[in-house]
Amino acid sequence: MEKASKIVLFSCLVVSFLASSSAQTCRTQTFSNNKQYDNCGDLPALNCYLHWTYRTDGTIDLAFRHTGTNSGRWSAWAINPNGPQMFGSQALVAFVNSSGVAHAFTTQVNPPSPTMQQSNLSFEVSSLSATFENNDMTIFAVLRISENLLSTSQVWQEGPVSNGVPGIHPTSGEHLQSVGSVNFLTGQSGGSASNSRARRRNVHGVLNTVSWGILMPLGAITARYMKVFKSADPAWFYLHVACQCSAYIVGVAGWATGIKLGSESAGITQNPHRNIGIVLFCLGTLQVFALLLRPNKDHKYRFYWNIYHHSIGYAVIILSIVNIFEGFDILQPEDKWERIYIGILIFLGIVASLLEAFTWYIVLKRRKTGSDKHSNSMNGAANGVNRYGAGGQGV
Ligand SMILES: *[C@@H]1O[C@H](CO)[C@@H](O)[C@H](O)[C@H]1NC(C)=O
Ligand SMILES: *[C@@H]1O[C@H](CO)[C@@H](O)[C@H](O)[C@H]1NC(C)=O
Repeated sequence: MEKASKIVLFSCLVVSFLASSSAQTCRTQTFSNNKQYDNCGDLPALNCYLHWTYRTDGTIDLAFRHTGTNSGRWSAWAINPNGPQMFGSQALVAFVNSSGVAHAFTTQVNPPSPTMQQSNLSFEVSSLSATFENNDMTIFAVLRISENLLSTSQVWQEGPVSNGVPGIHPTSGEHLQSVGSVNFLTGQSGGSASNSRARRRNVHGVLNTVSWGILMPLGAITARYMKVFKSADPAWFYLHVACQCSAYIVGVAGWATGIKLGSESAGITQNPHRNIGIVLFCLGTLQVFALLLRPNKDHKYRFYWNIYHHSIGYAVIILSIVNIFEGFDILQPEDKWERIYIGILIFLGIVASLLEAFTWYIVLKRRKTGSDKHSNSMNGAANGVNRYGAGGQGV
């Protein structure tokens, strides 16, 4: 089936996306004061780079560079002894102030919300300065940290400056991925913490897009258009149940990864995405119960059950698609992923429209010629339509 091959292609592209890696840019960077550092690392988000030397006197001489920014934005880098998160960060911040000079200061980022006011850090910082050249912001500092912080978490961030004051940074895309680990001794930077988190975000996106966004509409199409044919009678039902049940199982796994990711991003809540996700989980679960509570075909309540099952089913599909696009906005993967998903939706839409037209064709033809002259399968098809589908009392 073409659809199946599209899904396979989609999965392959996703795997190659996850596996892709790049060579280090930081090695080609230089500093105007001709300073040299022993180690450097490309940070995995926001065009940021860390250079440092661990000196024998136990201090760390470092430079943090944020490229491709502008004079209306702030840049920051921090050690966070509390883990790969915003709160607890011991941050170095720089922005071009109203004198037109790159101004650097330190601040602790504490709950309930960051103030970005100058404050002392939990360790000593000296030689703090910043330069802004060719749209690159570079912060220089010497840190004296205790030995237990030589391997720790690092976070970095950038955001707008308004009226000479650093403002709230965006909370989507790479702004959520700018965390990692750093080991000043071994020279490891960027680190597994952020990579595994980025991987889990991608897994969350793929699981939910494939289950809620592709399998569920496919299962609905199976039910609506296959049951028209009497010869496919029990088959469509089992296909529909198999499709929706596997979509539900994969979807719940994807949903759980989302709840976990949400609980880890303290201070950032993606409210509409999270709320729609929770509603979807409830509606999806209701549909599973609908299967168990399904009255017999001839039961007087079956008509109401049909309305209930169909309306929740369509609501789930619409909400899923809306939430997948919300998710694209938050994770901001490369444009091609959104385009591929739109392509799959258009394909499903065309298939559904063609089948809808074909179903109506059968209904009208049957009305014109009468049922007696027809073969069994045609007869079944028309009856099927009348009973459940486009021509009938159903949807
Ligand atoms: C701008 O920053 C520089 C360097 O930190 C500082 O000397 C200067 O006083 C600052 N200007 C204003 C208006 O804050
Ligand atoms: C911050 O540290 C400096 C130098 O160690 C010290 O002089 C100053 O009093 C400290 N400020 C506060 C608010 O603790």
